Amino acid sequence: MSIIDQFDLTGRVAIVTGGTRGIGLAIADGLAAAGATVVPTSRTASDVEAARKRVESHGVESLAILTDVTDDGDIESLFERTANTFGGIDIVVNNAGVNPSAALGCPEDVDSEGYDVTLDVNLRGAFRCTQEAAPYLNESDKGSLINIASVGGVVGLPRQHPYVASKHGLVGMTKSIALDWAPEVRANVIAPGYVATDLTTELRENDKLRQSIINRTPLDRFADPEELAGPVVFLASDAASYVTGTCLTVDGGWTSK
Ligand SMILES: NC(=O)c1ccc[n+]([C@@H]2O[C@H](COP(=O)([O-])OP(=O)(O)OC[C@H]3O[C@@H](n4cnc5c(N)ncnc54)[C@H](OP(=O)(O)O)[C@@H]3O)[C@@H](O)[C@H]2O)c1
Repeated sequence: MSIIDQFDLTGRVAIVTGGTRGIGLAIADGLAAAGATVVPTSRTASDVEAARKRVESHGVESLAILTDVTDDGDIESLFERTANTFGGIDIVVNNAGVNPSAALGCPEDVDSEGYDVTLDVNLRGAFRCTQEAAPYLNESDKGSLINIASVGGVVGLPRQHPYVASKHGLVGMTKSIALDWAPEVRANVIAPGYVATDLTTELRENDKLRQSIINRTPLDRFADPEELAGPVVFLASDAASYVTGTCLTVDGGWTSK
């Protein structure tokens, strides 16, 4: 197989949670451009429908399915409907994530609701999707699980304790899954640095904070969401056939400083 063909995802079926905005939408778009059938899902009907159309603009199939990753029934139905419609599932990207203001601050300032929501979406949601994905990924001979963590899953970040706890958990969970599922299914995690999405709007609008992040980033800027698509396509593809249990930082060099 040529090196270019190794990146071809034609015939594979992918689910992307939180695949309707920001990084998730860019990932769904990238997987579709590489030939995969993609189901981009979230809690907002209009966004799910728009994402379905964007996927289909690449000439591949899609489905509009609403999913809240904190709802077990939603998750079960997402996997069942996708597999029933397309005959299986080969790629799962656990991307849905939040960092609510109620979970920011020093540990003593964080309220329990902010803590619970952050852990429920970022960690438990990814875990429940992973459980539902298990039979399908095991049945596929190209099964690939990709979790989207953060540099906050690799190092500490001040005043973001629940988020950092959830993302460290996600990195550790992915490494354990890679052990349990090898050699049939590969599992990897990506740790993005600072990306220009809705999640970082407040940060980017604060001149002092934005500049301090840029100053600490060797590549001198925030990432565009599209810059996360290539790493996901790589990890999903045959080009990464010997890559499992790894945490790939995509952070413009932020953690190298
Ligand atoms: N932006 C960054 O700088 C950055 C850096 C490192 C890591 N990350 C991680 O990358 C991932 C995507 O972040 P982003 O910046 O693209 O965020 P975003 O623009 O806020 O998009 C988040 C996506 O997740 C969905 N979502 C939120 N809660 C959900 C739930 N309970 N169930 C299902 N879907 C849900 C949202 O849709 P609805 O609200 O409509 O459901 C949306 O599609 C997150 O895991 C985040 O932690 C981001």
